[in-house]
Amino acid sequence: MARDITRNAGEMQHIRVSPAQPAAAAIDIAARAIKSGGLVAFPTETVYGLGANAWDADAVHKIFRAKARPATDPLIAHICSADQLDDIARDAPDLARELCRRFWPGALTLVLPKSAQLPANLTAGLDTLAVRMPDHAVAAALIEAAGVPIAAPSANRFSRPSPTTAQHVLDDLADEVDVLLDAGPTAIGLESTIVSLVDDPPQLLRPGGVPLEALRQVIPDLRFEPRFLSDGEAAPAPGTLLKHYSPRAKLLLFQGSDDAAIYAAMRAEIEGNRRVGLMLGDADAAAFADLDVKVERLGRNAEQAAPRLFAAMRALDGAGVGLILARAPDKQGLGLALWDRLLRAAEGSLIEVQPARGGSR
Ligand code: TXA
Ligand code: MG
Repeated sequence: MARDITRNAGEMQHIRVSPAQPAAAAIDIAARAIKSGGLVAFPTETVYGLGANAWDADAVHKIFRAKARPATDPLIAHICSADQLDDIARDAPDLARELCRRFWPGALTLVLPKSAQLPANLTAGLDTLAVRMPDHAVAAALIEAAGVPIAAPSANRFSRPSPTTAQHVLDDLADEVDVLLDAGPTAIGLESTIVSLVDDPPQLLRPGGVPLEALRQVIPDLRFEPRFLSDGEAAPAPGTLLKHYSPRAKLLLFQGSDDAAIYAAMRAEIEGNRRVGLMLGDADAAAFADLDVKVERLGRNAEQAAPRLFAAMRALDGAGVGLILARAPDKQGLGLALWDRLLRAAEGSLIEVQPARGGSR
């Protein structure tokens, strides 16, 4: 295969495109980079991806090298039409078709038996493949123009928060990418939901952009067993490593229903500690207005918090805080994915705050 993309550091092409109607010339440059074995960072509705031709083992290898990602952590293949599914997956069950019809394009990744022709490094040697059809005009146009499925993890360095803006990609991977398609911030801001259809009953491996409740309408017995592993433990499924999506700062996650008790517990952590940052919903943030601490507001609900969460972690890291305090959200809808990312950032530990004696006011 031709290797006409030779690139030295600093030669990345950063191309701004309209998120809804990307210019054909921009897509063409990026598609040519994919076809010649290069790396293209591109937006999806969830987070930015670091893409390469999924059929090309050398190009796939570049992704692992660029991210410093363990070779044991398989990638997601991105497609732009349901027909492409049959090229890369084997024996997709009727349930897969049903899920595709309902949720694609969208933030749902399916794990299916893989085609034997795919390079082994794409799936980390597994005989299963993760695949999704992103709901973003730029991603769709790129996959279409490249004419191949695009392997893409989130375009961050391994264990850093996923990128929701082109700037995040530049911060982590500027020297590694051939073309960056910059279409502004991503809409959902958390990664796709991953469902394994090779398990019986099907299993939710990662909560994400498509809520568990919506999936259970189609798969009533969908299993979900959140597990948070410490570094040495063997993962039952790849990608369930504990240290993921993390800011550099230590994160403490508080859970409880009594606002006053939560605020008191947080204030106790803040006292005497000048390098604390808060990551809170608007209502909770207001309770700390009198303090001189860095606050990242996550908005009024899970839909507003999701696209702000990873940017908030990066902003607090950038501000040099050593400790981040956050509150565990409600697990409904997108809240489950938020809760999952926060718990991973907190390395699996929750601080349960009991109601103050006499109950909440
Ligand atoms: O929203 C998303 O899913 C984004 C955008 C770019 O599409 N991608 C993303 O990729 O989050 P990544 O690589 O950061 O996360 C993919 C997860 C990993 O945890 C990986 O272990 C899991 O998918 N995965 C991939 N193939 C798998 C397989 N065959 N079985 C189980 N898990 C798999
Ligand atoms: Mg990732």
